[in-house]
Amino acid sequence: MEILGSIVLVVHLAGFAALFGAWLVEIVNRRTNVTRLMQWGLVVTLVAGLALAAPWGIHHELDYAKIGVKLVILVVIGALLGIIGARQRRGARVAAPLFWAIGVLTLGNAALAVIW
Ligand code: HEM
Repeated sequence: MEILGSIVLVVHLAGFAALFGAWLVEIVNRRTNVTRLMQWGLVVTLVAGLALAAPWGIHHELDYAKIGVKLVILVVIGALLGIIGARQRRGARVAAPLFWAIGVLTLGNAALAVIW
């Protein structure tokens, strides 16, 4: 069970890497586009995170307050991806601060996971 838990944690981290990496690619190229990789990264992070939050395979106590806060932040990131994606499809301008919030919240969630 422990090895399975570790694999799911690696998948969770791969989802985070995809979401944050795809966001960084847009930022360094001075774009504010929501991409498919960001959406997939978010879904993978969520599914693996929920699996990790089930009481199995983890060798230490789960902090459900921390997990709850991370879940709320992930939902906000999902909403931002949805809002910006919809504006993109309409050809409307995307406010840069909204796009920046995706990366800041994603990195914030990683910091929360490690520091809390
Ligand atoms: C963008 C969103 C997220 C990011 C960037 C993120 C990041 C991370 C990172 C970096 C770790 C490793 C921490 C460590 O082992 O010290 C971790 C672990 C974990 N994450 Fe996430 N996470 C996110 C969302 C979620 C969600 C939505 C859930 C559950 C609903 C979740 C549940 C967990 C659990 C249970 C662990 C392992 C136990 C722990 O150390 O708390 N994560 N996450």
